[in-house]
Amino acid sequence: RTALPRRRFLAGTGALLGLGALGGLTTPGRAFAEETPHWRPAVRFAPARNWVNDPNGLVFFEGEYHLFCQHNPHGDQWGNMSWAHAVSPDLVRWEELPVALEPDELGQIFSGSAVVDHHDTSGFFGGQPGLVAIYTSAGESQQQSIAYSTDRGRTWTKHADNPVIPNPGIADFRDPKVFWHEGTGRWVLLVAAGDRIQIHGSANLRDWELLSEFGTDHGSHGGVWECPDLFELPVDGDPARTRWVLVVSINPGGPAGGSATQYFTGDFDGTRFTADGSPEEVRWADRGADFYAPQSFSDVPDGRRLWLGWTSNWNYADKIPTDPWRGMMSTPRQLSLATGADGVVMLVQQPVAELAGARANPRAWSGPLTESGGAEFRGSAVDVVARFQLGAASAVGLDVFAGPRGRTRVGYDIAAGELFVDRTGSGSAQVSADFPARHGTPLAVDGDAVELRVIADRSCVEVFANGGRAVLTDLVFPDAGSDRISAFAEGAGAHVELEVFDLAP
Ligand code: FRU
Repeated sequence: RTALPRRRFLAGTGALLGLGALGGLTTPGRAFAEETPHWRPAVRFAPARNWVNDPNGLVFFEGEYHLFCQHNPHGDQWGNMSWAHAVSPDLVRWEELPVALEPDELGQIFSGSAVVDHHDTSGFFGGQPGLVAIYTSAGESQQQSIAYSTDRGRTWTKHADNPVIPNPGIADFRDPKVFWHEGTGRWVLLVAAGDRIQIHGSANLRDWELLSEFGTDHGSHGGVWECPDLFELPVDGDPARTRWVLVVSINPGGPAGGSATQYFTGDFDGTRFTADGSPEEVRWADRGADFYAPQSFSDVPDGRRLWLGWTSNWNYADKIPTDPWRGMMSTPRQLSLATGADGVVMLVQQPVAELAGARANPRAWSGPLTESGGAEFRGSAVDVVARFQLGAASAVGLDVFAGPRGRTRVGYDIAAGELFVDRTGSGSAQVSADFPARHGTPLAVDGDAVELRVIADRSCVEVFANGGRAVLTDLVFPDAGSDRISAFAEGAGAHVELEVFDLAP
C-alpha cells in the first residue's frame, strides 16, 4: 500500500543531499524566459518558477491570506522540499514572497498547516498574537515540527525543541493540520499515519497527546492516506444542525486514477471522530484527475470555510509541460453542506465570491442549441455560467479551449446522469499515456434544468454543477490560441442562457 509514495520520497531524500546541485539553481533577481506563458493561470497561484505541490499553512492574518506550498526552490522536479510563500488581499491576486521554510538537520519540510495563536498559548509571542506553522520534518523518519513568525509570516524561527511529535514507528506519518477546538479549549492536530488518521491534542502547540485514531476500516484504502483536515459546517445553512467533515487525500486509488480526496461527515467531540453512514462508503470531493491535497484556511474572519488544492496528480505531476514552473493551485472554494437527493449530507463547493471581482468584459447569449451549437465567444481565462434547459437532448455542455487542433468538452450526459470533462482532444501536448481521458461524476438533476459554472483558466478547467453539488477539476494543455467557447447539445430541444466573463485580476 505505501510502497509507491515512499519510493517517491526516498528519491527526493537523495536530491536533498545534493541540495540543488542537480536542478537548475535559482539566481535571485535574474530574468528568465517564460516558455509557456499561455498556460500560466490568471487567477490561480503558480510560482514564478520551479516545482510546487500541496498547499500548506493556509491562514488569514492581519488582512492577508497566506498560501504556503510544497516547493523545490532549486528545480522543476520534486525535491529539496521547502515551503514557498504567497500572500493575497482577496484570494485572487497573489504576490510570491521569499521561501518561508527550508530543509534542516531534521530533513525536508513536508506538508503542514498554520494557525493564529491569538492568546500566545505557545509563549513565542510575548503575549501578542502570532503565526505558528506545524509541518512534517521528513528525514530518516517523518516527525512533526513547529516554527513561528513575529513579522506576519515574512520570516520564521524553527522551535528549538523540534520535533514536537517524534516518529512513533510509522513510516508514513505526516501532514499535520491544526485547529483550535472551542468546546474543549485546546488545539487539535490531525496527522496522516499510513492507513489512518491520528488525532492529537495540546494546550500550547508544543506538547501533544494522542487522543484517538480514525479510519483503518473506513472509506477508500487504495493508497496511502495523506493531508487530513477536519472542520464543522452547518447543514443546509442551519446553524443548529452541524456536521463535522473529515477530509483525507489518498494516493493512488482515486476514481480518475492516481491521487484524489475523499471525505467523511460525522461527529467530533474534541477527542474522537465518529463517521456517519456505513464504513464502506467512499465519497470523493472532486472526481476530476487534478484536485489533490486540498487544505482549508484557518481564521477566515467571516466564518466562511474556504479551501484550495493542488491541481495535479502524482500519476504525471513530474511531466506537466509548463515551463519555467511546474505545479499550480486551484481557485479557492467556499465549502458548505447540503442534504442530497438521497437524503445524505454532501459537501458542496463553489468558487469564492471574490472571484466575481476579477470578472471583466461580460458577454451573454441565449437561444436554442442545435447540433452545430450556438454563439461563439473567445477567451483563455474565463468564468462561464451556462443554464441549460434539457428538452429532448441526450447531452448538453460547453466546449472551451477550442481551436483548429483541439477542444475540451465539459458537459452533462443525461442518460448516464453524469457530469463530465473530456480532455481526450484538449491539445497536442503529450503529458502521459493516461492523461487523455474523460472523467465523470454523478449528478442528479431535478426537472429539466442544469447549471454549469466553468472556470477555464489557461491550463485547467474547474466545473461546478448545480451550485457546486458536483465538481470536476482537470488540467488541460490547449495549443496556444485555442480560445473558443461555445455551448453544444446532442439531440433536439435544448436551450441555453450563457454568460461569459474574462478573468482579469
Ligand atoms: C501529498 C504529499 C504529502 C507530503 C508531501 C511531500 O501530495 O505526499 O503527504 O507531505 O506531498 O511533498
